[in-house]
Amino acid sequence: MPLPIIEPTGTEYEDPLDLMDEIDELKKEKDATILAHFYVDGDIQDIADFAGDSLKLARDATQVETSTIVFCGVHFMAESAKILNRKKRVLLPDLNAGCSLAESCQYEPLKNYQEKLRAEGHDFLTVAYINTTAAVKSLCDWIVTSGNAREIIEKIPEDKEILFVPDQHLGRYLSEVTGRKMILWPGACMVHEVFSLQDLNRAKRNNPESQVIAHPECPQNILEVSDFIGGTEKMRQYVKSIEKPTTFLVATEAMMIHPLEKLAPQHTYVPVPGIITSTGETCACNRCPHMALNTLQKIRNCLRDGKPEIEWQPYFQKAYDVLERSLLQ
Ligand code: 13P
Repeated sequence: MPLPIIEPTGTEYEDPLDLMDEIDELKKEKDATILAHFYVDGDIQDIADFAGDSLKLARDATQVETSTIVFCGVHFMAESAKILNRKKRVLLPDLNAGCSLAESCQYEPLKNYQEKLRAEGHDFLTVAYINTTAAVKSLCDWIVTSGNAREIIEKIPEDKEILFVPDQHLGRYLSEVTGRKMILWPGACMVHEVFSLQDLNRAKRNNPESQVIAHPECPQNILEVSDFIGGTEKMRQYVKSIEKPTTFLVATEAMMIHPLEKLAPQHTYVPVPGIITSTGETCACNRCPHMALNTLQKIRNCLRDGKPEIEWQPYFQKAYDVLERSLLQ
């Protein structure tokens, strides 16, 4: 039988150091600033002008002085940067960098669900995690990130119900810490949902003095055995506040270990493994496949070619109003 023909991928190996030099040159030539989320590869975080969590990056984007922003993250992040900076050109190295949470909550189903709730007599405000599309944001009253969610929810009048979309785990956690009852949309992050409680317990047993730090997108069973719960920036501040060298079991996207090691190198960081639910096998799925689409090559290409670009859409104006009020005021 003839062997199958493997098509060339078109991405030949290029020396990362050469690519970094090229990116530096192109940044000057094209008047660009690079923003990178803590979940992209460490070398990309290192060459970025701003690295951070979702909240900081949305705010940093409004401080950029160059005419172009290259957003190394996922689509909703670059889209939010464009919404907040209409006049700037916003590039995303790979337009396929999506988000399972944003996917799980689409415009029409959310609009229909809101109408159904209103028809049933619910008097509610819709709070959306920033991991949503601009169209979905335009249907919402508040946008939150893991960094400001509690603060915003505590501002909502007690007589209003809260519809929280799309992350059911983050919503459940916020409901617990704020004491506010919430109607939860059944979405989840593909990375945070797969942590294995059994493997986490085993890692704890093998590292008896360790602490578990978990992102609030994790399901309840993981949060229940965690010593610290917080978004990516809060995790950084927490490990920094501890001087004694400690082993941290990290329940979030694997690349987060890079900024933790940079900020607090006295500690040891162990990624919590994920699990394939259908087979029960441990996997390396704590790497977000969308964030992983950001590569040095694609950053160089998008700077060189001026694309892919996030184009302004008419419905961005409504999303601007809610984003600006939620994140910048
Ligand atoms: P933060 O950066 O706000 O912690 O959130 C991480 C995330 O969900 C990225 O998709």
